[in-house]
Amino acid sequence: MQMLYEDLNPPLRRLMGPGPVDVDPRVLRAMSMPMLGQFDPRFTEYMNEVMSLYRSIFQTSNQWTLMIDGTARAGIEAVMVSILEPGDKVLVPVFGRFGHLLTEIAGRCRAEVVTIETEWGTVFDPQQIEDAIVKHQPKVLACVQGDTSTTMAQPLEEVGRICRAHGVLCCVDATASITGMPLDTDNWQLDAVSAGLQKCLSGPPGIAPITFNDRFAERVQSRKHVEQGIRPDDYEASDGEIIQSNYFDLSMIMDYWSDARLNHHTEATSMLYAARECARIVLQEGWQTRFARHRQTSAALCAGLTAMDLQLFGDQSNKMPNVTGVYIPDAVTGDAVRTEMLDHFAIEIGTSFGPLHGKIWRIGTMGYGCRKDNVVSCLAALETCLRRHGHNARAGAGVDAALAVYGDPQQTIFSEPSIQSV
Ligand SMILES: Cc1ncc(COP(=O)(O)O)c(C=O)c1O
Repeated sequence: MQMLYEDLNPPLRRLMGPGPVDVDPRVLRAMSMPMLGQFDPRFTEYMNEVMSLYRSIFQTSNQWTLMIDGTARAGIEAVMVSILEPGDKVLVPVFGRFGHLLTEIAGRCRAEVVTIETEWGTVFDPQQIEDAIVKHQPKVLACVQGDTSTTMAQPLEEVGRICRAHGVLCCVDATASITGMPLDTDNWQLDAVSAGLQKCLSGPPGIAPITFNDRFAERVQSRKHVEQGIRPDDYEASDGEIIQSNYFDLSMIMDYWSDARLNHHTEATSMLYAARECARIVLQEGWQTRFARHRQTSAALCAGLTAMDLQLFGDQSNKMPNVTGVYIPDAVTGDAVRTEMLDHFAIEIGTSFGPLHGKIWRIGTMGYGCRKDNVVSCLAALETCLRRHGHNARAGAGVDAALAVYGDPQQTIFSEPSIQSV
């Protein structure tokens, strides 16, 4: 007989790793709303609302602001495969694992990929990027904004301007940074930006918001081919090289999200509801409040960790405000502490990749999870687990230092997300 297993009942955790993070209960509620047919007028209205909301999230007036179904890398793949023709040259500044992901995806599009690298824990001076552009003359620059693997954020304002001046298309992966720190797509002259829900947007992984400008869209349209069976009567294939993926073909996806409503795929209805609610939550909070909350939480966490005689990882002047890297003390086994944090306190923190695996932990304070109660609970738990592994910080030092950063609760300049039950 087929085993039916038990009712689904996942344990309650505080997800304080580099993502996914706890989903805002408002988003969970939105996801439980009834299904609609994909061309139901109410559903297409929701699609248009999502486009409009995400124009604000990306700080853009780009018409082409839409969702790609799939996790954040689906957004990256859609951008890359739709713009890169075999043999095109791409420059990727790599400052962590996700720069390597951009390299990998561009390579699979059979582009010629050139990388520049900097030590993990640092970012590039824009001049280094300009020098590489001048030297290699790429068609596209693909760059991560915040690389969670190192907790570093690459300043992009100058980079976009440099790309524009050299006629290079600037494509950015803002998955880990979006709404935790400024991202000004139009003013920074970014041509395409992709993201995901599972970090500061406080949604589940599974849909990727993207935006791209007309300059980018024109190149995509020059490769337009519509699959047989859904071609409109006046269809004429373009002369350009066919986009190698059907699922991620932005030329067809644009027709799905425009009045043409090409029946390309079945939109991930519940994920669209989630994305809509995520954006509403961010915009209701307001940018200044939101950024201040992330900065203050990061400062409190860093103060607490330092007071526990731990050393922060990386160039602090370019640290992401929503994730913090901290060295694992020499005498301590990082994974054993993580396991105890989960077992005894139900708190998840992250390890890292490649050269940083086993060397640093990464602690996320993002969106809904960017709260004082998360910071102090995490510090208290870490102190206890570290003591059990021989690292003795002064009792209460971490929590006290964090609380000192928060100061008098009456003076708090913003309200934190409330912990609501669903
Ligand atoms: C900067 C960055 N880019 C891309 C990804 C990949 O996202 P996904 O796992 O949702 O495909 C992540 C995930 O952590 C990320 O942090």
